[in-house]
Amino acid sequence: MSVRRIVCLPGDGIGPEVTAQAVRVLEQLRLAVELDERPFGGAAIDAVGDPLPAETLAACRNADAVLLGAVGGPRWDGGRVRPEEGLIRLRRELDVYANLRPSVAPGIDFVIVRELVGGLYYGRRGVLDDGTVFDTCEYHPDQVERIAHRAFELARTRRGHVTSVDKANVLSTSRLWRRVVDKVWRDYPGIELQHALVDSMAMQLVTDPERFDVVVTENTFGDILSDIGAAVTGGLGLAASASIGDGGPGIFEPVHGSAPDIAGQGTANPAAMLRSLALLLQHGLDERDLATRLDAAVDHALRTVPTPDAGGSATTDDFGDAVIEALTATTTEEEEWTSRVS
Ligand code: NAD
Ligand code: IPM
Ligand code: MN
Repeated sequence: MSVRRIVCLPGDGIGPEVTAQAVRVLEQLRLAVELDERPFGGAAIDAVGDPLPAETLAACRNADAVLLGAVGGPRWDGGRVRPEEGLIRLRRELDVYANLRPSVAPGIDFVIVRELVGGLYYGRRGVLDDGTVFDTCEYHPDQVERIAHRAFELARTRRGHVTSVDKANVLSTSRLWRRVVDKVWRDYPGIELQHALVDSMAMQLVTDPERFDVVVTENTFGDILSDIGAAVTGGLGLAASASIGDGGPGIFEPVHGSAPDIAGQGTANPAAMLRSLALLLQHGLDERDLATRLDAAVDHALRTVPTPDAGGSATTDDFGDAVIEALTATTTEEEEWTSRVS
């Protein structure tokens, strides 16, 4: 098999700390992959004055998948350009419009399908003469249509239930959203669809998270609801995400940010990053068995060596060690099995 290229963008704060564990694990998996680490975010602003340098973007375009730590931090507040702008541009450049954010815990198993390249993040913005500042939420029907298809297709492989979240009682983009989702739904007989208003949905994700299967929503609502999803299933240290488009490289990144409050302490939970790596193996490299094994190894480490956010006292490195140990154990079992049956 040809060598696959993974571009690594460690970024800022705990980004490089958790990315280092993913790199260790990737090396342990002995896949035919070439890792290409590139400056991004605040680190790239410091190096070359641009959070998404042209060479970084070119490397991402040519990759099979992009693994991203996190960007941002108070150091870059008030600067000419923000680290986050690099991430927002990169998502648009790669057109990774579907951001899958799974929330899994005992009794809870839903995926937020967040539209990632439209809405408030990408609408017209500016400053008027009187000092008024504005950001606009804009959606084209085609943007809603393609994300709705993603959600219904995903529901077909799961429990067949979609909740579409909007604010159709107030916003015209939400009324468009609801209309298009209803139209796309007609192509998916057998899938159940329910609409929910975002404020009520925020409450229900806290009070009844077990009820949900696939949750599809626009960019800003998805950003906020996915942090709630993380909170009800173990916290931000555990929540992974996959941002995918139609065929090009996907971006695989934790839901959490650069966590400036704990950066440099060596105690960040790398579970979110390692689960994002599992999503990369599954969606980016089509290595489904390896992804399942990695998820199981992360679950084992969460049970045996939790970091402080998960109620333990393990370090980021301890956690990585436990994941690698668990992976080595499953490799040995498989090899033994192969030698016994052959
Ligand atoms: P955050 O997600 O960085 O942190 C929120 C809280 O969760 C903090 O208390 C932090 O310590 C904790 N936390 C997060 N990840 C953790 C982990 N792996 N292990 C243990 N604890 C963890 O959110 P914030 O503090 O609001 O944002 C900090 C910066 O990160 C901002 O500049 C923001 O824009 C940026 N950000 C970046 C991304 C990204 O790059 N994808 C995502 C979210 C926020
Ligand atoms: C996330 C983050 C980003 C977002 C920021 C850092 C631009 O919060 O990935 O959830 O809002 O999409
Ligand atoms: Mn967020």
